[in-house]
Amino acid sequence: MTTVTDTWHCIGTLGDLFGERACKGVEIDGVKIGLFRVEGIVFAIDDICTHGQALLSDGEFDGHEIECPLHAGLFDVRCGKALTPPLTRDARAHETRVEGDTLFVRLAD
Ligand code: FES
Repeated sequence: MTTVTDTWHCIGTLGDLFGERACKGVEIDGVKIGLFRVEGIVFAIDDICTHGQALLSDGEFDGHEIECPLHAGLFDVRCGKALTPPLTRDARAHETRVEGDTLFVRLAD
Protein backbone atom coordinates (compact mmCIF):
# COMPACT_ATOMS: atom_id res chain seq x y z
CA MET A 1 0.00 0.00 0.00
CA THR A 2 1.27 3.46 -0.87
CA THR A 3 1.26 6.04 1.87
CA VAL A 4 1.61 9.77 1.41
CA THR A 5 3.34 12.51 3.30
CA ASP A 6 1.32 15.30 4.91
CA THR A 7 2.89 18.11 2.92
CA TRP A 8 1.29 19.62 -0.13
CA HIS A 9 3.95 21.35 -2.24
CA CYS A 10 3.01 24.43 -4.22
CA ILE A 11 4.47 23.86 -7.70
CA GLY A 12 3.31 26.92 -9.64
CA THR A 13 0.56 28.04 -11.92
CA LEU A 14 -0.68 25.83 -14.72
CA GLY A 15 -0.04 28.66 -17.15
CA ASP A 16 3.63 28.81 -16.17
CA LEU A 17 4.14 25.04 -15.99
CA PHE A 18 2.54 23.98 -19.24
CA GLY A 19 3.32 25.73 -22.48
CA GLU A 20 3.35 23.87 -25.78
CA ARG A 21 4.01 20.54 -24.07
CA ALA A 22 1.50 18.88 -21.78
CA CYS A 23 4.29 17.38 -19.71
CA LYS A 24 6.92 18.92 -17.50
CA GLY A 25 9.66 17.72 -15.19
CA VAL A 26 10.09 19.39 -11.79
CA GLU A 27 12.02 18.65 -8.63
CA ILE A 28 10.27 18.48 -5.25
CA ASP A 29 12.36 17.94 -2.11
CA GLY A 30 15.12 16.50 -4.30
CA VAL A 31 12.76 14.07 -6.06
CA LYS A 32 12.32 14.34 -9.81
CA ILE A 33 8.62 14.37 -10.63
CA GLY A 34 6.97 14.30 -14.03
CA LEU A 35 3.78 16.31 -14.41
CA PHE A 36 1.39 15.29 -17.17
CA ARG A 37 -1.76 17.08 -18.22
CA VAL A 38 -4.55 14.90 -19.57
CA GLU A 39 -7.79 16.61 -20.62
CA GLY A 40 -7.20 19.40 -18.10
CA ILE A 41 -6.26 17.11 -15.21
CA VAL A 42 -2.66 17.08 -13.99
CA PHE A 43 -1.11 13.78 -12.94
CA ALA A 44 2.25 13.35 -11.21
CA ILE A 45 4.52 10.29 -11.28
CA ASP A 46 8.20 9.77 -10.60
CA ASP A 47 10.09 11.24 -13.54
CA ILE A 48 12.94 8.73 -13.51
CA CYS A 49 12.06 5.58 -15.41
CA THR A 50 11.83 2.42 -13.32
CA HIS A 51 13.95 0.61 -15.94
CA GLY A 52 16.90 3.01 -16.18
CA GLN A 53 18.20 6.51 -15.89
CA ALA A 54 15.91 8.37 -18.25
CA LEU A 55 13.56 11.25 -17.60
CA LEU A 56 10.05 10.33 -18.63
CA SER A 57 9.06 13.96 -19.10
CA ASP A 58 11.55 14.06 -22.01
CA GLY A 59 9.64 11.29 -23.77
CA GLU A 60 6.80 11.26 -26.24
CA PHE A 61 3.50 12.00 -24.53
CA ASP A 62 0.30 10.90 -26.21
CA GLY A 63 -3.13 10.72 -24.60
CA HIS A 64 -2.44 9.33 -21.14
CA GLU A 65 0.73 7.44 -22.05
CA ILE A 66 4.32 8.56 -21.76
CA GLU A 67 6.99 6.73 -23.73
CA CYS A 68 10.38 6.49 -22.07
CA PRO A 69 12.93 8.17 -24.34
CA LEU A 70 15.56 5.48 -23.72
CA HIS A 71 13.91 2.10 -24.48
CA ALA A 72 10.37 3.15 -25.37
CA GLY A 73 8.58 1.53 -22.41
CA LEU A 74 5.12 3.00 -21.90
CA PHE A 75 3.62 4.20 -18.61
CA ASP A 76 0.05 5.25 -17.88
CA VAL A 77 0.57 8.67 -16.31
CA ARG A 78 -2.79 8.50 -14.51
CA CYS A 79 -1.54 5.83 -12.10
CA GLY A 80 2.11 5.12 -13.00
CA LYS A 81 1.32 1.64 -14.31
CA ALA A 82 4.00 0.11 -16.50
CA LEU A 83 2.25 -0.92 -19.72
CA THR A 84 4.88 -2.46 -21.99
CA PRO A 85 8.26 -4.23 -21.89
CA PRO A 86 11.01 -3.73 -21.02
CA LEU A 87 9.26 -2.20 -18.00
CA THR A 88 8.58 -4.53 -15.10
CA ARG A 89 7.87 -2.01 -12.33
CA ASP A 90 5.26 0.72 -12.06
CA ALA A 91 6.25 4.33 -11.38
CA ARG A 92 5.15 5.87 -8.10
CA ALA A 93 2.13 8.10 -8.51
CA HIS A 94 1.64 11.24 -6.42
CA GLU A 95 -1.48 13.14 -5.46
CA THR A 96 -2.22 16.43 -7.18
CA ARG A 97 -4.74 19.16 -6.62
CA VAL A 98 -5.40 22.50 -8.28
CA GLU A 99 -6.65 25.59 -6.48
CA GLY A 100 -7.54 28.35 -8.88
CA ASP A 101 -4.66 28.09 -11.37
CA THR A 102 -2.10 26.81 -8.86
CA LEU A 103 -0.91 23.21 -8.78
CA PHE A 104 -0.06 21.38 -5.54
CA VAL A 105 1.58 17.95 -5.31
CA ARG A 106 1.76 15.63 -2.30
CA LEU A 107 4.53 13.07 -2.58
CA ALA A 108 3.90 9.41 -1.93
CA ASP A 109 6.34 7.79 0.52
S1 FES B 1 15.14 3.38 -19.26
FE1 FES B 1 13.00 3.59 -19.59
S2 FES B 1 12.44 1.84 -20.74
FE2 FES B 1 14.57 1.58 -20.35
